[in-house]
Amino acid sequence: MPSPILTFPPMGIDKISTLLARNQSHCRPISLAFGQSDFPIQKYLDLTLQAKDLEKVLGYGDIAGQMSLREKISSFYASTLGVELPVSQILITDGATGALVLALGLLVRPGSEVIIPAVGYAAYPRIVKMFGGIPISAPLDAEFNLSLHRLPDLITAKTAAIIVNSPGNPHGNIASLEILAEIASFGIPVIFDEVYQLMTFGGDFAPSGTQLPGEHFVVNGFSKSFAVPGLRIGFLIVPPSYAEAAESVKVLLNICPNLIGQLLAERLLEQAPVLLKAHQSYLRPCHNFFLDACDRYSVPALRNSQAGFYGIIQLPEGMDSMTAASILAKDYAVATAPGKDFAETDPGFLRVNFTKSGQDVSEGVRRIAEFLAKVNPEQLQSHSLSASGLSLS
Ligand SMILES: Cc1ncc(COP(=O)(O)O)c(C=O)c1O
Repeated sequence: MPSPILTFPPMGIDKISTLLARNQSHCRPISLAFGQSDFPIQKYLDLTLQAKDLEKVLGYGDIAGQMSLREKISSFYASTLGVELPVSQILITDGATGALVLALGLLVRPGSEVIIPAVGYAAYPRIVKMFGGIPISAPLDAEFNLSLHRLPDLITAKTAAIIVNSPGNPHGNIASLEILAEIASFGIPVIFDEVYQLMTFGGDFAPSGTQLPGEHFVVNGFSKSFAVPGLRIGFLIVPPSYAEAAESVKVLLNICPNLIGQLLAERLLEQAPVLLKAHQSYLRPCHNFFLDACDRYSVPALRNSQAGFYGIIQLPEGMDSMTAASILAKDYAVATAPGKDFAETDPGFLRVNFTKSGQDVSEGVRRIAEFLAKVNPEQLQSHSLSASGLSLS
């Protein structure tokens, strides 16, 4: 029998993808479920490898990650945010997931509590539990940031960390530097998950935990901002006092992260200003296109997201998001991520990736509208009256 702390129920999103693959409808399958931007990075940068590159990547690399990559990350933070980060505090990981595992592995003891957003990235409670910790869900405020009023009540002698995800998955909310600073001031180590930090619609980079004093951790990576999740390259920025311990845990996780991925990550960073600008310019029209499609078909959607690439479609009150996503995958051949994946209590929405082709987004939204009209025509009617001004916040 596997240890109970290592077994988790399958994620809804994975079940939905299986249902889409087996769907019985006659429609063309459309997947709007997964968290990967369709931004075509290869149009902007040649990522091909030559034989001479391969020679550099077939041996073991540095445990903490290649020094040249860590130096480039440090320079990137200096030039974009004016933050000085010694390379000794930067560890390259297997995607941002590796950074989350490393940070929580360093902080959580059996019985520790970790405060996580009540609606947030599905891996947080799972990784906390994997280390014997207890996830504590913190309510969100009207802008989908952790509620500053409610946080102090959740902090106990057992609190090992607070996870802050800004910009957030799934809502695309951005916490101001003042909010981040207030959360950081509670005296508890904060893990700032900033994988969407460079993907704002406004063109600026979102505020970062690296701009704050204190013993905090910052998770980031290349998967989202550069649309290369397959490289599996992320990084963790640790406080100086954790640098040595982090390296000694890291060697057990992977000895060293994938060297091909690190080499390509360096190429991406060399061209970062152009690539990130191009990606941001790609996201804005995709977001508007999605909202227009929702208006056209009177589908109630969250309108005030500020970053990332997710749209949130509100389901009629009381409708279970997993049931809705299952019917959509089976009968309408459209896959979405059920809100249930992001929270203990079903938040009653579907998350969709709006960077897919215009044809897929438009047709996907149309099919969702058809489904909603069938299950609850009155509800849809009342939404359509106010669709242009609808906001979930
Ligand atoms: C908030 C958040 N953090 C971390 C990750 C993991 O990213 P990676 O693919 O780099 O491991 C994701 C992926 O969806 C995410 O949404």
